[in-house]
Amino acid sequence: MYKIFPVGVPVTGRNLIGRKKEIEEIGRSLEIGQSVIITAPRKYGKTSLIFEMLNQAKVKGYFTGLVDVFGVLTKRELAERIVDSVLVNRRIRHAIKRVKENIVNAMKSMEFKQVVQDFEFILGFSNYQIDEEALLDEALDFPEKFARKYDKRVILAFDEFGDICKLDGEALMKKMRSKFQLHQNVTYIFSGSQETLMKDLFTKRKSAFFRFGRVFYLSGLPKADFKSYIIRSFNREGVEIDESCVDDLLYKTDGHPYYTQLVCQLCYLNVKRGKERVASREMEEAYKKAILLERPYFEEMEISLMENKYQLLLVRQLVYDEGSAYKVKGIDKQYIYKLIVALQKRGIIKRIDRGKYTLTDPLFKSYLELRNEK
Ligand SMILES: Nc1ncnc2c1ncn2[C@@H]1O[C@H](COP(=O)(O)OP(=O)(O)O)[C@@H](O)[C@H]1O
Ligand SMILES: [Mg+2]
Repeated sequence: MYKIFPVGVPVTGRNLIGRKKEIEEIGRSLEIGQSVIITAPRKYGKTSLIFEMLNQAKVKGYFTGLVDVFGVLTKRELAERIVDSVLVNRRIRHAIKRVKENIVNAMKSMEFKQVVQDFEFILGFSNYQIDEEALLDEALDFPEKFARKYDKRVILAFDEFGDICKLDGEALMKKMRSKFQLHQNVTYIFSGSQETLMKDLFTKRKSAFFRFGRVFYLSGLPKADFKSYIIRSFNREGVEIDESCVDDLLYKTDGHPYYTQLVCQLCYLNVKRGKERVASREMEEAYKKAILLERPYFEEMEISLMENKYQLLLVRQLVYDEGSAYKVKGIDKQYIYKLIVALQKRGIIKRIDRGKYTLTDPLFKSYLELRNEK
C-alpha cells in the first residue's frame, strides 16, 4: 500500500527508497547461501531492509523467519521466538502461546499436530520444569531440521542481534555459531544498531562469529533518490514544494531515512490545512517540531552523557567545530582520545576524517545547537 511519508513502521516495496545496491548484493549473497550482517545506527532502515529481503525471498519460494531479539530477557524467550518465527511458514501463528495456554486445544489444529509429530520438543514449552538450555538447543537447530523436513531453503533473520550478548555473552554466541555453521539449508541475516559491537562480533579474529558473513554498513539514503521522492510525494497531493528547501533538509539530515521522513510528514500535515506551497519557512517549522517530538530521547542521551562532564563538553564542542576535538580546554589529549573511543563505541559520534568527528545523529546535533543558543 502506498503511504505518504511513512514513519514508525518498516517500509518495503514502493515505499522503500534507495538501497538498490544493498538489496542486490544481499540478495546475491543469500542466493548462494552466504549469511549477511546489516549494521547501522537506529532508524537507518535495518528492519525495513530485512523485511524487503524476506519478502523477496518468499517470492522466490524460500521459507523465511524474523526473530526480533529486542527486549528478549531469557534464553527460553529466545527459543520461543525462533520456533514461532519458523512455524509461520506452515501458517501456524502464536504456536508457543497456544501450547502454553492449552495443549489439547492447540493440537486440534491439523497443521500443528503434524508439526508436533516431527518436532515433539515444541510441547516442552508448556512445561517450566524443562531446562531452558535444552529448549534453546532444540530451537537453534529447529530451522535447519524444518528446512530439511519440508525440502525448502530457509532465510532466517535476527533483528537487533546485539541484544543477545546481554543474555549470556560469549557462551551463547559460541553455541550459536557452532550450530549455525553446520546448517546447510538455512542462511542467516543478522542486524544490529550497536555498530562497533556488531563489527567486532563478526570481524574480530577472536569473536564467536568471526567471518561468518559479509558485513553491510547502511548509510543515509541517496540524496537524489530522496529528493525526487519528496517532491513527487508532495506534488501527488497537490502541494508545490521549493526544490531548495528539500536540498536544505537533506543537507541537514544527511539523508537520514527516519528523520527526513518525519520532517516531511510533519510538514505535509501542516500544509494540508490550507496551504499549497512548501518553502523554507514551512520546512524549518517542521524540522523544529521533529526535534520537539524526539526530545524525550535526546534528553535521555544528554543525561547519559552527563555521567562524565568532559564527555558532554566534548560532544558540545563537536556540535560547533568538528575538527577541534583534540583541543578541549582543560583536558589532556590522551584523555580526550579515550573519550572519543568510548563515544564512538556507543555510536554517538563518528569519524569523518583524520582527527575529525561529528555526531551520528543529525537531529540530536540540532537539538544541542538550539539548547546552547538559549
Ligand atoms: N529505504 C527507506 N526508504 C524510505 N524510508 C525509510 C527507509 N529506511 C528507513 N526509512 C524510514 O525510517 C524509519 C525507520 O526504519 P527502520 O527500518 O525501522 O529502521 P531501523 O530498523 O534501522 O531502526 C521508517 O519508518 C521509515 O520512515
Ligand atoms: Mg529496527
